[in-house]
Amino acid sequence: MTESTWEPILRLLILSQPISSRETRHYFESEIMQTATFTAHPGFRVGEVDPRLFGSFIEHLGRAVYGGIYEPGHPEADDQGVRQDVLALVRELNVPIVRYPGGNFVSGYNWEDGVGSVEDRPRRLDLAWRTVETNEMGTNEFVAWSDRAGSETMMAVNLGTRGADAARNLVEYCNHPGGSAWSDLRISHGYKEPHKIKTWCLGNEMDGPWQICTKTAEEYGRIACEAAKVMKWVDPTIELVACGSSSSGMATFPAWEATVLEHTYDHVDYISLHQYYGNRDGNLPSYLARSVDMEKFIRTVVATCDYVKAKKRGKKDINLSFDEWNVWFHSNAADAAMEPWQIAPPQLEDLYTFEDALVVGLMLITLLRNADRVKIACLAQLVNVIAPIMTVNGGPAWRQTIFYPFAHASRYGRGVALDLKVDSPSYETTDLGSVPYIDVMATANAEDDTVTVFAVSRSQDEPFALNGNLSAFEGYSVVEHIVLTHPDPKACNTVDAPETVVPHCGGDAGIAGGKLTATLAPLSWNVIRLAKRF
Ligand code: AHR
Repeated sequence: MTESTWEPILRLLILSQPISSRETRHYFESEIMQTATFTAHPGFRVGEVDPRLFGSFIEHLGRAVYGGIYEPGHPEADDQGVRQDVLALVRELNVPIVRYPGGNFVSGYNWEDGVGSVEDRPRRLDLAWRTVETNEMGTNEFVAWSDRAGSETMMAVNLGTRGADAARNLVEYCNHPGGSAWSDLRISHGYKEPHKIKTWCLGNEMDGPWQICTKTAEEYGRIACEAAKVMKWVDPTIELVACGSSSSGMATFPAWEATVLEHTYDHVDYISLHQYYGNRDGNLPSYLARSVDMEKFIRTVVATCDYVKAKKRGKKDINLSFDEWNVWFHSNAADAAMEPWQIAPPQLEDLYTFEDALVVGLMLITLLRNADRVKIACLAQLVNVIAPIMTVNGGPAWRQTIFYPFAHASRYGRGVALDLKVDSPSYETTDLGSVPYIDVMATANAEDDTVTVFAVSRSQDEPFALNGNLSAFEGYSVVEHIVLTHPDPKACNTVDAPETVVPHCGGDAGIAGGKLTATLAPLSWNVIRLAKRF
């Protein structure tokens, strides 16, 4: 017998022994398991985690709004048509900011269509998604919904068919206290207090040929600069996001970013990144490696921002708004066959698998690892459309697999992101080189004296030992070790079986003498929560 044939037998023998303590078990296991190690120290900081890192997105698209957050007549809807069951799930997901109203939709949107008396609002053809938009929900209703969800609104303006004028009027309508035509119109619509929307997107994916009124980087850079100036003249407290590339795969990436920032550097605060992944060829190791691609994307955009800063002798940094990210591929074929000009058809309704949840977990870890420059990120999207929350019209709402890693990261990934020194065995991929089996990230929250370790195992068959040096965090003990795992990577939650993939607190993490030890199950998302003992 070779050594590798003996290994599983040896493991079974050891694991069948009575376990006197967690440490003893780890001692034996670490003799035979592959091990990943890390060191966490409060002094080694990536940076403060901006709560907006856990944002999401609602677009006028498919059943995100109509049949999603808003469905008058639904048994769970209140007198404003807001679905309370969906609202409860959004609150549980813990989403501090929601981008609205698009997406591709915004590039053809007249915001004036969505304010004032609902009966008078026009029905319009939405050319982005080839549907009919009823405008029953608009700016005021959305901001009111967002408040109730415990979120702020991140508002996008139309720089496709429109420009600086409509954008500055929308800022005036939303944020000016009163005494001007647009702010008084808002007051006459029943909203006396200004909405105080802080974060604004200057258009959406303006480099994409699919976009209504696509632009070159020069054209967009000029329009974005002039829109930014007048928007900030109306309200100097707002922050602005310029459009970066629609994905790192665009032929004009990253020259687009450099040109756009040459025009807008002094007037904007963030540049956007968008990226979606999918397991189109059924290659799981390669799919799980996509977050390494995301990391490369972030680093290239940071380098481009800093290049323009140096060129302009700039004083401030431009930070990153990763305002669309997710898995998106399951629904592509169904969407291609969709009949046009329907109202709220089921578009982009990806049913997410367990392996998708792992990729989402890895993407969250990547965002946290870059929290010094990525200040805003929006999981695209929130309800029904490539979403963690699904609904049936007139029926129930449920949590998709990807709901869980997002909810965990948003709840516990607060405070300071720690710069961990991680060492993990790795595997080879064709396009991304060597990829670690174990990806780990941690946050320390001084507000409640907690430390949270997030870890994903990309290993398909073998458990891994995770050993963390936490000796600098004296007096901390493990509160719980949450695990999301499933024997079938293709397992989904559905309306009939909504609890097929759910987390449990059965992990074995423990800490002794400043050494954290845990077993990471094959293909697993892990959240190890530690708190200071008093
Ligand atoms: O989130 C779905 C779509 O993806 C958005 O409308 C667009 O910005 C991106 O291409």
